[in-house]
Amino acid sequence: MSKFFALIPAAGSGSRMGDELPKQYLPLDNKPMIYYALKILCKTPQISRVFVVLAPYDNYWTQYDWSEFSEKLVVLNCGGATRAESVVNGLAASQHECTVDPNDWILVHDAARPCLSLSQLEKLINALENDEVGGLLAIPVADTLKRSDTEARVQHTESRENLWQAQTPQMFRYDLLARALENTTKITDDASAIEALGYQPKLVHSDATNFKVTYPEDLALAELILKERKL
Ligand code: C5P
Repeated sequence: MSKFFALIPAAGSGSRMGDELPKQYLPLDNKPMIYYALKILCKTPQISRVFVVLAPYDNYWTQYDWSEFSEKLVVLNCGGATRAESVVNGLAASQHECTVDPNDWILVHDAARPCLSLSQLEKLINALENDEVGGLLAIPVADTLKRSDTEARVQHTESRENLWQAQTPQMFRYDLLARALENTTKITDDASAIEALGYQPKLVHSDATNFKVTYPEDLALAELILKERKL
């Protein structure tokens, strides 16, 4: 039986938020943003360990109380210069913390997606646990897409047929993901590395609530979704 692990890369600075506090620590309903991703992943019975990858000199993590997650949480201070580097370093370091089989699953989830729900996560695991390759949560593109020049003038309209927006978690076998990420440089998600090896990750239909908090105005929306779930 393959085991399930989760890894949250949380070594970014979140410069697009324009705040000195790294994005993963920005307050959402009185908790740092990463709290919500951690909570869902730790609460999922199939997942046996949750690794959080922090920047080597992260001064914020220890300012909070994480004791409610102590059963599954493992903190790794090995973040890199890019998200991909943080994931690679985290995969390597996590194998010193517990016994990992090459076929075990690793679910990589961004700290900046605090509104992942238990049902989205379970849907992903159920859809992929017997899959050869693995895959990711995603939503079909709903808006019309414009390609611009550097002056923000429309060059042309892209077809949105069969286009999806990739989300996280992205779920792959440990060994495959580690091998895939070894040879990549400019990627923004884990699935791209798998694709570069010639595989076709499966897209598992998610919904828009699992969006990535990127700009300051996203915070209020995330807070609203989280508050409504609590009711
Ligand atoms: O900046 P962006 O929103 O794309 O970051 C996605 C995730 O990757 C965040 O959880 C962020 O903390 C993480 N990251 C990282 N190491 C980096 C850059 C980003 O772990 N060097």
